Order: sequence, then structure tokens, then C-alpha cells
Amino acid sequence: MTISNLLCLCIGRAATHMFLRLGVSAALAASVSGAWAESIRDLPGDPKAGAIKADDERCRECHGDFGEVEGHNESLKIPRLAGQHPAYLLKQLRDFASGARKHEFMNRVAADLDPQDAADIIAFYVQQGGQGRRVSNTVSNPDIERLYRDGDAARGISSCASCHGMDGKTSIAQASIPAELIPVIGGQDRYYLEEQLLNWKSGARSNSPNAVMNTALKGLTTEELQTLAKYLEAL
Ligand code: HEC
Ligand code: HEC
Repeated sequence: MTISNLLCLCIGRAATHMFLRLGVSAALAASVSGAWAESIRDLPGDPKAGAIKADDERCRECHGDFGEVEGHNESLKIPRLAGQHPAYLLKQLRDFASGARKHEFMNRVAADLDPQDAADIIAFYVQQGGQGRRVSNTVSNPDIERLYRDGDAARGISSCASCHGMDGKTSIAQASIPAELIPVIGGQDRYYLEEQLLNWKSGARSNSPNAVMNTALKGLTTEELQTLAKYLEAL
């Protein structure tokens, strides 16, 4: 089986073509345009235009027609965008474009994306519900619940709920971080969550304001992070 066929099995033909096309194209400019940098907080998006711009081969192939991945995508670990804060998502695209957040494929997508197009696509995706992923499992784990709610002072671990809210969906503004830059994590895909938590812990992802996320869970074990990911998906 060729690499191309393997990729098709995982992510579908259109995205495979995109992967391969991007894979062989010359390195894209990594510089960030002024428009990203200046208007990240209040770049208004038009959801109608975004619905068209998120066309099949561009975003929908992976992020779905409505910002939800059908079922789980264990191999690609694709986040759901529906119901997320637009300012947070725009910041992520800016960070992918500048390389502050690293992901080989999304770095190339974002570097190629006009900021206004990004705002339109995001406006389209975020308005698609946000009721949370319908998972059949609920996770009842008092230790993890307590950790999420209270943190663990003995190990210097902050309460997740103090920023992300008890339900993982009600972001709470901090002195230096507006609520709109604190993402919804309740109902997010568990494979995506696990990957991000492990990346924050290892430092592979380091784009949070004042490194809050790297600090927040530095002392947690891999097993605790895996259980947290399942717990958060079920919120
Ligand atoms: C080939 C599949 C694929 C395509 C096509 C794709 N994405 Fe992504 N996207 C991903 C994956 C995988 C991630 C997670 C990256 C990581 O692990 O850091 C992601 C992450 C994101 C995030 C960050 C979400 C968060 O919660 O932090 C945003 C925003 C995003 N993509 C927007 C887009 C937009 C807009 C497009 C179209 C212009 C697009 N993506 C096209 C696979 C894709
Ligand atoms: C001081 C506030 C704060 C605390 C405490 C905190 N977070 Fe976060 N978290 C953030 C911010 C801000 C971001 C977005 C960072 C960025 O800009 O990329 C984030 C991002 C995340 C993400 C990535 C979401 C995505 O879509 O990619 C996950 C998962 C997460 N936090 C889980 C947790 C868990 C679990 C805990 C507790 C161990 C925790 N957070 C504690 C503020 C906080």
C-alpha cells in the first residue's frame, strides 16, 4: 500500500491531495502579516462567506461540515471548532502562521491563509452549535474530578476549573487573560485533548499567555493527563 493510499484511509482523498501537494511545495513564508498581529481580538468574520471559504479541500475535509469531526479521529487527532471562542481560534491560526504553535500541516495551512478569510471561516464554524460532543461514556473518577476542580497545592498544580470553568465550557477571565482567549475544553475530542495535554507538559506546545498551561500541569503524570482527557470529553 502506498503512503498516499494509507493517508486516504485516514483522512479522505481531498485532504490527502492537500497533504501531498503541501509536502512537495517550497517552504512557505513564515512571516506573519500585520493584519493578524493587530486585529486578532476584533477581526469581524462573516459566517456566510466563511461557509464557502471553508470548502471541501480546505478545512471541511478534516474539521467537518459543521466544525465537528464525525466520530473520533484517533490517528489525526482533529479538534472540534464548533462552539469554541472565535478570538481563541484566531489566535491559534496566528500562532500556527508564525510557528509559535507547531503542527506541520496546520503551520502550512495557516501561513497560506488570509486573515480575513480565517476570520470568516472561524465565524462560520463557531456558530455551529457548541452543545458538546455527544459521548456515551461518562467518566466518574473522584480523584480526577477533584484535581480538575481544586488542583493539587502539594504538587503546585493549579485548579483547571479556575480558568476553564467547572463544566469546561465557561471560561473565567484572569488578571492578564481575557475569557475569550481561554478555550472551551469540555466536550472536545479526547484524542486531541490528550495530545495537547502531553504537548503542554513536554513543552512541545508553548504558546499560552505567560506559559500558564505549561505551568498548570507540569507536575501531572501521563496517566493523569490521559484520564483528564477522557473526563473532559465527557463534560
Ligand atoms: C488535513 C486535516 C486538516 C485540514 C485540511 C485543516 N485542519 Fe485545522 N487542524 C487539524 C489538526 C490535526 C489540528 C490539531 C493540530 C495540533 O495538534 O496542534 C488542527 C487545528 C486547528 C485549529 C486549532 C484548534 C484549537 O482548538 O486549538 C484551528 C483554529 C484550525 N485547525 C483551523 C483550520 C482551518 C480554518 C482550516 C482551513 C483553512 C483547517 N484547519 C484545515 C487538521 C486539519
Ligand atoms: C490560569 C488559567 C489556566 C489554568 C489554571 C489552566 N488553563 Fe488550560 N488553558 C488556558 C489558556 C489561556 C489556554 C489557551 C492557550 C493558547 O493561547 O494556546 C489553555 C489551553 C488549554 C488546552 C488546549 C485546548 C485546545 O483547544 O487546544 C487544554 C486541553 C487545557 N488548557 C486544559 C487544562 C487543564 C486540564 C488544566 C488543569 C490541569 C488547565 N488547562 C489549567 C488557561 C488555563
